[in-house]
Parts: sequence; structure tokens; C-alpha cells
Amino acid sequence: MKKAVILMGGLGTRLRPFTIHTPKPLLPVLNVPFFAYQLDLLKRFGIHDIVLALGYRSAHFKRMIGNGRKWGVRFRYSLEKTPLGTGGAIRKALPFLNGPTVVLNGDVLSDMHLSDMFHLHSGKNAEATLALFPVKDPSAFGLIETDSEGRILRFTEKPSPDEITVNTINAGAYLLELSFIRSIPPDKNVSIERDVFPVALKDGRALYGFVHRGLWTDIGTLKSYWQVHKDLLHKISNFPIITAKQIRRGLWAGKKTVIHPDAKIDGTVLLGEGCHVGRAVLKGAVCIGNGSQIKDGAQITDSLILDRTTVHSSCRLDHCLIGNHCHIQESSILGPGDVVADRSTVGPFAQRFSYEDDAT
Ligand code: GDD
Ligand code: MG
Repeated sequence: MKKAVILMGGLGTRLRPFTIHTPKPLLPVLNVPFFAYQLDLLKRFGIHDIVLALGYRSAHFKRMIGNGRKWGVRFRYSLEKTPLGTGGAIRKALPFLNGPTVVLNGDVLSDMHLSDMFHLHSGKNAEATLALFPVKDPSAFGLIETDSEGRILRFTEKPSPDEITVNTINAGAYLLELSFIRSIPPDKNVSIERDVFPVALKDGRALYGFVHRGLWTDIGTLKSYWQVHKDLLHKISNFPIITAKQIRRGLWAGKKTVIHPDAKIDGTVLLGEGCHVGRAVLKGAVCIGNGSQIKDGAQITDSLILDRTTVHSSCRLDHCLIGNHCHIQESSILGPGDVVADRSTVGPFAQRFSYEDDAT
């Protein structure tokens, strides 16, 4: 288990508008590009050779992340001219591989114990081992049923309510033998979830599940992207890749960030590098990206603001997701649930009115 493939070719449509300018794996989570959490996990288990399976925006990736040296790993790029699907992308990476390989979906963050997974895999003589994670509602995932020995019996991608028999889902991390990868048809668009796994099960091949019970979260949708911030803000100290320093209980800030002494900060707040917070109020779970500014009188509650955005004076933001390089002009009121795309200007005095009364 020396090499990994990360699947990064999806369009990230459920995370628009943020994925219009930034591919999903490069979106920041607590001000660190998402894929850095995955590299951190792989490095912890001695995996430094990483194949990035890409299509969409591959030039952007190469420019941003280079050959991996900066991250202490080595990247190989496996580029698809047209998307090959999850199975096709893994098959295309075969020339870069030489033994049992870890495969990760590019939008899953976990503290999975890959060595334990490998032990189970080799102990069972499996051709493929899939990490499983128990969730309340498996309908948005791949449902996996196993027997008491962990052997996979059924794989149902995005199950309908009557197909939900268990709560364990495909956690988007696999350990695959080369023989398994070789058996995927080359140069074809195939889904590992819908095409490859179900057929392999019918053929009686040895597929096992490894139940992970620690941290697991994905950033596939706006809701989960916000949720991951909310959940991890309380665990910042578990992630050494987040370089912000703790100022006091519930407050972390990056280098060169200035906070006005009269700012009221009450909750769990992460400020990036080079931010400026005036006499503002920050409440609940708040994450503010590098170089952003919050002016006097602004009030921000439970919101995520990306890099180099300015929230001008007297704005009120509640449960909002605001992109990079935005201007929320003075006295605007946003939220709950508003999402503002990169480089937008909102306001001044933008607000909602109560149209329900119009009929009277
Ligand atoms: N290279 C490449 N080429 N990557 C792709 C392609 C492709 O054609 N299509 C999708 N991907 C990547 C995506 O970028 C993502 O990282 C990963 O493959 C999975 O695709 P998603 O579109 O995110 O799938 P999903 O979230 O609906 O479901 C998957 O993840 C769940 C866990 O989060 C499935 O694997 C489910 O079974 C699983 O439960
Ligand atoms: Mg996904």
C-alpha cells in the first residue's frame, strides 16, 4: 500500500457557485484547500506517491498544486480528455500503479485508519475493500450490505427508500488490488459504484467492507460544505495543517490579522491571514478567509466568508456563504441561507421584504 489515486474529475455542480471558479478539491475548508486534508491522511500512512485523476480544469490544478513537492508528496497526473466516470478514471491510472492501491473520492474528509483497513484486506484475501460509514439517511450515497464476516453482499448506489435495509454507506475510500483495477474495461466511461462493484459481486469476487467509526464528512453539496465548517471549527486543534493560532477560547486567527479591541466575538471563530475586523459582532460558527475585512457595526452570525471579501459597515449576515472577492455593501441584510458567488457586489441596503402581505 504505497500509492493512492484521488478522483478529482467531477464537475462539483452541487457546490455551485463556488465551483465555477475553483474545482471542488481546491475549495478551502477552514482556510486550507480541501485536498490538503486528504494528503495529510495519506502521508500519515506513509503514502507519498499520489495519482490525481483529473479532467475538468486540469490546468488550474497543475498551476495551483504543481508536482506535490510543496506538500511533501509526489503527484502524477492522469488526465481524461472526456470524463471516464469513477471506474474509467481508476482504470486509466493503472500505468502509474504497481500494487494494492488506495483510492479516495476527492470530496471526502476522514481520519480513517488505512493500515487497519489494509490488514483486514490482506487477512481476507480481498480483491477490493471498501470503507463503510454508518449514517442516518443513506439515500444520497451508495448503500452497502455485508454479512457478519464483512463480505459485501449488495451495493446500491443512491438507494430508494424501499431499498434501504442497513445504514452503512460507501465512504468513498477503497483498497483495490491491481487485478481488480485491470478488470475494469479501459477507455470507457464506467462508474465504479453503478457498473464495476455490482458486476464484481455477481461474479462472486471477494469484496469486503471495513467499517470506519471516526470522523467522516463530504463536501459534495452547499449544505455539507457549510456543515463541515461548523463541525470542524470545534476541532481546529486536531488539524496541524491549519496554521492559525489560538488567540483565546473560541478564537483563532492567521498571521497579520488585526482585530479591533471593541469587536465582540462570541462563538467559535476562525479568521484567516491578513484579515481586518473592526468594531463588529461575530457570533456562532464563523469562518473568514484570508485578506477579508469586516467593517464597524457589521454583525455576522453562523456564516462562511471566503478570501478577500469585504463586509461593509452595519451589514447583518446570518447563515450565509459568501465567496471570494465580494463586496457586501453597507447596511445590507443577508440570510438565512443566502449564497453569494465570487466577485459579487451586494447592496448597499440590500434586504428582504415581506411579500406575503401583498394580497391584503
Ligand atoms: N477523474 C474523474 N473522472 N473523477 C470523477 C469523475 C470522472 O469522470 N466523476 C466523478 N469523479 C470524482 C468526483 O470528483 C468525486 O471526487 C468522486 O469521483 C465521487 O463523485 P461524486 O459525484 O462526488 O459522487 P457522489 O458524492 O454522488 O457519490 C459518491 O460518494 C459517496 C460518498 O461521498 C459514491 O462513491 C457513493 O457511493 C458514496 O457513498
Ligand atoms: Mg461526492
